[in-house]
Amino acid sequence: MRILVIGSGAREHALLLGLSKDPAVSELHVVPGNAGMASLATLHEGKVDSPAEMAQLATKLGVDLVVVGPEIPLVAGVADALREAGIAVFGPSKEAAQIEGSKKFAKDVMAEAGVKTAHAETLDPGADNIDETLDRFGPIWVVKDDGLAGGKGVVVTEDRVAARAHVEAVHQAGNPVLLESYLDGPEVSLFCLVDGETVVPLLPAQDHKRVRDNDEGPNTGGMGAYTPLPWLPEDGVQRIVDEVCVPVARQMVKRGTPYSGLLYAGLAWGREGIAVVEFNCRFGDPETQAVLALLKTPLGVLLNSVATGTLAEQPPLEWEDGYALTVVLAANGYPESPRTGDVIRNADSEQVLHAGTALRNGELVSAGGRVLNVIGTGSTLADARNAAYAVIKDIELDGSHYRSDIALPAVEGRISL
Ligand code: GLY
Repeated sequence: MRILVIGSGAREHALLLGLSKDPAVSELHVVPGNAGMASLATLHEGKVDSPAEMAQLATKLGVDLVVVGPEIPLVAGVADALREAGIAVFGPSKEAAQIEGSKKFAKDVMAEAGVKTAHAETLDPGADNIDETLDRFGPIWVVKDDGLAGGKGVVVTEDRVAARAHVEAVHQAGNPVLLESYLDGPEVSLFCLVDGETVVPLLPAQDHKRVRDNDEGPNTGGMGAYTPLPWLPEDGVQRIVDEVCVPVARQMVKRGTPYSGLLYAGLAWGREGIAVVEFNCRFGDPETQAVLALLKTPLGVLLNSVATGTLAEQPPLEWEDGYALTVVLAANGYPESPRTGDVIRNADSEQVLHAGTALRNGELVSAGGRVLNVIGTGSTLADARNAAYAVIKDIELDGSHYRSDIALPAVEGRISL
């Protein structure tokens, strides 16, 4: 099987690594990729949010399957163009990708499916009722950019002034704002392979979105993650599947926009049970890097079964025992104003996945805010932490930073439902 992966982050690096281990995969390509992927796949240039360009590239390469990593190409309709060109694709149609692309669409689907989520109100640019709307929320405000922001356009704050400032910033960018009531309880990311009404969950994971230890500082795209979750009840995944993922998948079929690809449910498990924080239409980053580190089932065959509508015929997924964890190494100034172009040293370990990296005169340099991920695995979560931190501590990148407490609350038994 020849496969083209679309994307350039550590998530795509993890996908390529998983695909490269599948004996059924004979050839790997990536567009645009990054410096760390060259040993696994052939890198190509191209505008990943151009449906026509991606269909042309996939046709030229003669690939059997395209795996779309990020949300922007999916919301732009890249999967539709590939399907029209007769190429199997892992990723939902433009209409189904609205589950992430439009918070309103997601809220409508959840209301129809009877799935619990936060109360939300929209403020369009130019609205003159910002203050009275803010008054209806708090003491913790959740202010979301209702345009696509790759998980980065959310401000969660107890500071009303900061909440108002984010409303104005999003409006200035021309996007509507979604204000949401705050959901309490630990967060869970559950990724499900969805092929119409067939829903197959992967291991549950938890992301750490704030930039600094103890969940301090601004929200980021994610600073680290671990899987599985020792504090989740034994029937936790099945409950999420039954209460959230299956009803949504069925509702998408009923609406005439069946889902095909990865449905990412971001949830809060609070005092009153499970509620949806958000849906994404793709693998999450950085949780995927940890989850795929434990997957034993051949990834290419699995993703191809979703793309070809045969997921229901697949055997149950197989997983390694133990835990996996990923820690993100971020550039100087991330997330506010990441500096790029700094030399990276001591990053040769097989545990390292690349995100924002490039080659300059043969030297590895930073080229984005989240630069590298380090993966650790172990029979306990504490062992997985030790394995990741033993590698990240020796990587040299001027001014870089990482969180030192990924999975620590879980290891110390500080998370309870
Ligand atoms: N884990 C956050 C995201 O992928 O959006």
